[in-house]
Amino acid sequence: MTRKIVIDTDPGQDDAIAILLALASPELEVLGITAVAGNVPLPLTSKNARIICELAGNVDVPVLAGCAAPMSRALVTAEHVHGKTGLDGIDLPDPEMPLQDGHAVDFIIKTLRSLPAGAITLCALGPLTNIATALTRAPDVVEKIQQIALMGGAYFEVGNITPAAEFNIYVDPEAADIVFKSGIDLVVMPLDVTHKALTTRPRIEAFRALGTCVGEAVASWTDFFERFDIAKYGSQGAPLHDPTVIAYLLEPQLFSGRHINVEIEVQSDLTRGMTVADWWRVTDRAANALFIGDLHADGFYALLTDRLARL
Ligand code: BDR
Ligand code: CA
Repeated sequence: MTRKIVIDTDPGQDDAIAILLALASPELEVLGITAVAGNVPLPLTSKNARIICELAGNVDVPVLAGCAAPMSRALVTAEHVHGKTGLDGIDLPDPEMPLQDGHAVDFIIKTLRSLPAGAITLCALGPLTNIATALTRAPDVVEKIQQIALMGGAYFEVGNITPAAEFNIYVDPEAADIVFKSGIDLVVMPLDVTHKALTTRPRIEAFRALGTCVGEAVASWTDFFERFDIAKYGSQGAPLHDPTVIAYLLEPQLFSGRHINVEIEVQSDLTRGMTVADWWRVTDRAANALFIGDLHADGFYALLTDRLARL
């Protein structure tokens, strides 16, 4: 049986690779792709989502634009990581497929309501604005969600956009707070695991060696944002953050983590968006998330390369 998913995203090269992985995987039925402002503003994320679908040869998946700004703050973007377009690294044609009419939040609500309880998994690859807005506007959809698998937060790795916070949670901490308090089954891919999913020369060359447009695009994107992470962290490559979310749905045995309590800092300017994760279980606060800490990196890259070869 295929698993029905909606991908909420702010592409972003790593979002793009996650979307390609999902579209390449027969176990997953992508009901729609909802764009949110994040790495770059909404007009670009909603355009990039369609560029990616066309690259994958899938022009039938509905793509909708959602929230242009966080719930109660000004938008913070990350062109310093992803480039001016959000998809810098290779020139791809402007998309011909149109955006669907309507707002992504309405699409999420309508799609959830149209199916039985527990039928849909939401994959969140950007700030949680669209999803939290849907949960706030239509609390009845909570029971319709099988799981939310999201990339966001950090514990041991602390932060990447500030010393205390990871980008997706930092951009819209109020939205993250709503999601983490929702009672929905959450699987969280924090920096602790994504910083172990690093590109290496052989891994990038394996993408390029596919000899396809997809392989070339993925290799060029990873080449592009590798320069940033190598300079910043002195690491051997760049973390492929968002594809871990999709890989978890396909091969959860590649990952390990703990069921723990995670709360979001929304008050302090200094630590805004910090994910206060009770990794050591030093409080009696109830667990609300499966917080992933480790992955089998070779298995992850093998899965990714194998699936991308199908496009
Ligand atoms: C997250 O922020 C974005 O830059 C990436 O696309 C990823 O979703 C990593 O902190
Ligand atoms: Ca992202």
